[in-house]
Amino acid sequence: MEKVNWSRHWLSLVGCLGVNLLVYFFLIDCSDKAPLRRILSNVKDKEFSDVKLYTHHQQVVVDNGLLQVILSRPDGDVLGIKYNGISNLLEDRNEKDDRGYWDVVWNQPDGREGIVERIAGTKFKIVTEHKDQVELSFSKTWNVSSHGKGSVPLNVDRRYILQRGISGYYTYAIFERVEGWPKVDLGQIRAVFKLKKDKFHYMALSDDKQRIMPTQKDRENSQALAYPEAVLLTNTTNPRVRGEVDDKYQYSSEVKDDKVHGWISLDPPVGFWIITPSEEFRSAGPTKQELTSHVGPTALSMFMSTHYSGKDLEMKFEDREPWKKVFGPIFVYLNSVSSKNDSQKLWEDATKQMSLEVDSWPYNFTESSDFPSVDQRGIVSGQLLIRDQYINKRLIWGRSAYVGLATPGEVGSWQRESKGYQFWTQADNEGHFVIKNVRPGDYNLYAWVPGVIGDYKNDTNITIKPGWEIKLGALVYEPPRHGPTLWEIGIPDRTAAEFYVPDPNPSLANRLYNNHSEKFRQYGLWDRYADLYHDEDLIYTINVSDYRKDWFFAHVNRNINNRTYESTTWQIKFELHNLNKNGNYTLQLALASASAAEVQVRFNDASAQPAHFSTGFIGRDNAIARHGIHGLYWLYSIDATSNLFHEGNNTIYLRQSRSGNTFQGVMYDYLRLEGPPGA
Ligand SMILES: *[C@@H]1O[C@H](CO)[C@@H](O)[C@H](O)[C@H]1NC(C)=O
Ligand SMILES: *[C@@H]1O[C@H](CO)[C@@H](O)[C@H](O)[C@H]1NC(C)=O
Ligand SMILES: *[C@@H]1O[C@H](CO)[C@@H](O)[C@H](O)[C@H]1NC(C)=O
Ligand SMILES: *[C@@H]1O[C@H](CO)[C@@H](O)[C@H](O)[C@H]1NC(C)=O
Ligand SMILES: *[C@@H]1O[C@H](CO)[C@@H](O)[C@H](O)[C@H]1NC(C)=O
Ligand SMILES: *[C@@H]1O[C@H](CO)[C@@H](O)[C@H](O)[C@H]1NC(C)=O
Ligand SMILES: *[C@@H]1O[C@H](CO)[C@@H](O)[C@H](O)[C@H]1NC(C)=O
Ligand SMILES: *[C@@H]1O[C@H](CO)[C@@H](O)[C@H](O)[C@H]1NC(C)=O
Ligand SMILES: *[C@@H]1O[C@H](CO)[C@@H](O)[C@H](O)[C@H]1NC(C)=O
Ligand SMILES: *[C@@H]1O[C@H](CO)[C@@H](O)[C@H](O)[C@H]1NC(C)=O
Ligand SMILES: *[C@@H]1O[C@H](CO)[C@@H](O)[C@H](O)[C@H]1NC(C)=O
Repeated sequence: MEKVNWSRHWLSLVGCLGVNLLVYFFLIDCSDKAPLRRILSNVKDKEFSDVKLYTHHQQVVVDNGLLQVILSRPDGDVLGIKYNGISNLLEDRNEKDDRGYWDVVWNQPDGREGIVERIAGTKFKIVTEHKDQVELSFSKTWNVSSHGKGSVPLNVDRRYILQRGISGYYTYAIFERVEGWPKVDLGQIRAVFKLKKDKFHYMALSDDKQRIMPTQKDRENSQALAYPEAVLLTNTTNPRVRGEVDDKYQYSSEVKDDKVHGWISLDPPVGFWIITPSEEFRSAGPTKQELTSHVGPTALSMFMSTHYSGKDLEMKFEDREPWKKVFGPIFVYLNSVSSKNDSQKLWEDATKQMSLEVDSWPYNFTESSDFPSVDQRGIVSGQLLIRDQYINKRLIWGRSAYVGLATPGEVGSWQRESKGYQFWTQADNEGHFVIKNVRPGDYNLYAWVPGVIGDYKNDTNITIKPGWEIKLGALVYEPPRHGPTLWEIGIPDRTAAEFYVPDPNPSLANRLYNNHSEKFRQYGLWDRYADLYHDEDLIYTINVSDYRKDWFFAHVNRNINNRTYESTTWQIKFELHNLNKNGNYTLQLALASASAAEVQVRFNDASAQPAHFSTGFIGRDNAIARHGIHGLYWLYSIDATSNLFHEGNNTIYLRQSRSGNTFQGVMYDYLRLEGPPGA
């Protein structure tokens, strides 16, 4: 950047990057940090064309001079996006409903499961049309008398917005069930963008997750691996990606970290980005993992799915249950530079644009009355403190706590909740939090604190009305704790990331994740357990072992010959001194993930029947197979009477007893043995 000739640079950048670079210009020139749209109002009339709408029999075209979007009428799919000399950023060799569409996965009540239905509108309406903005609606209405004819019982109103001087378009949808409609389960709701295959080869998900991607054709020429979607690229057009594993789940992200992702074309240098300025309409809280972009080239906007959680997260609607939810708006942002040598700037610029979008949330230009503006929303603030007398006699600040409002429910229910809106923030170092822009409604306040086990929930229902500001003051979370810590393994942070994550089999690597902070996204790590613990299972000795090296990140079965899998039993060895006979010990066992698994816990007797404790058969989050380092969180506070322990050496046996296949297992988050109270 230092060597750039700025005056020349500005001219060309203003010319080609359009809006966003103008913003930098004004930011730098006027030291004005005002958000995008206000700055634009200064330049609006002079610099940019009016937004124009052309309606045809089967198509609608919206053009703001920067881009042109072509939509099918009345379906409401995106047929084309013309931008920067590319006649269509989407793959126009695909069918018309296979370029830019929304789909829903649903189960027929007592019938077929996993039906994938593309949303197709039946009615087109111009909501707004003036020189600064066009908003269009493509809606479908479910008809009770067509019940049983195979369409998901939902009304869907899909919206598209183009504005003057904005290099992209906004899209959102209002999903609704009217009272009296039949029951249904929804498993996934998403918007899909299939980009032009011969243009988009480079994918960017974050500063350190970017790469040249294989093509769809490469995947078709590949060798299938042990879990659906994972392939070994044996025959690729680009030799640079040959020999690697590809799996779209390697590119998953927690929704809190997925505010922008997309693709870069080098010829001409153009970026296509999905910007998600808010998590309020996504499901299951900030740590829910979703797919982002993947081979295709495909870019997704995942609104709801069962990924990394399983059926627990399906939206289950009872007979007659009414519902309404607005998904989005999201922003499809386009940018360009004049030289492909500057293509990295496209990503940098997209992240800056993302910040501007986040700052302008909630958007004030949507026309649907179902999307409340900032003054129709409320604020909840407070301070989260922790009482744990074994750490500190005084209250402790809930440092960096995740604090959120979600539908009233049980403790921790937010991680399985998807029908409502959720509003999350992270507290400061002293536990102070402010949750802004909360939609009117009834909520419970939930929280969890990195470094602390368990879940906080405040039992008071919180009702938000337009403009309300609720100050909760100090809230005290008392995490599960029965006695002093005798030892602990790991960090209570709801992931297994701190444990030992092996290198992949070198012939099954994704080079992006070699020596990467997310190396757990490599394929096949489950099988490395048998390589490391060939004959004897993991033994962890307190005060000797180091969980970063000696605690395998996933408690999996031992692969014997790719057909037979053997249950494994891990041991924790520790010494106890001054055994306390009056009172129970407690094992705090926190799981970061469970997939068709059962953990049996035995104290000093590997063959005790039944086990002293069992989780029972739990979990369908598939996080092991899908390279997530966590799925859903489970916490067990296990009472163990003192007669189960010995003075001196003790062993706790952890057996994962379900051994049908290689993907069954758990990931531990954290384990802690507590002595009897007061000791
Ligand atoms: C519902 O579907 C039936 C049969 O297909 C049709 O006769 C009726 O007009 C439809 N009603 C509405 C409101 O679209
Ligand atoms: C590799 O892919 C090309 C193009 O699809 C095909 O013609 C060729 O037979 C493949 N080679 C092998 C060894 O599979
Ligand atoms: C881009 O980089 C190449 C190789 O470094 C160089 O030859 C070329 O002149 C550069 N193009 C521009 C427009 O800067
Ligand atoms: C809309 O929000 C932007 C900031 O995001 C602000 O500059 C603008 O004045 C707002 N417009 C209206 C009509 O409130
Ligand atoms: C809170 O709201 C839920 C759902 O609306 C309701 O079931 C529950 O009884 C309420 N709890 C209290 C303490 O008012
Ligand atoms: C819940 O919030 C109310 C209102 O701020 C507060 O008085 C109460 O102590 C809180 N309950 C818990 C368990 O923190
Ligand atoms: C990780 O980096 C080290 C040191 O640079 C290197 O020796 C090792 O081969 C790398 N591992 C992988 C999987 O690339
Ligand atoms: C399973 O099959 C793969 C691929 O054929 C092979 O490389 C691996 O060694 C097998 N693993 C075991 C434990 O047999
Ligand atoms: C671990 O080491 C510390 C310090 O030497 C000692 O106090 C403690 O009892 C040991 N704990 C176990 C479980 O061996
Ligand atoms: C100790 O644990 C046993 C078994 O879980 C339980 O029945 C008993 O109530 C506990 N005793 C105390 C003092 O907590
Ligand atoms: C406890 O186990 C350690 C090794 O793990 C051993 O050195 C020691 O002798 C044992 N102590 C007793 C009392 O058995």
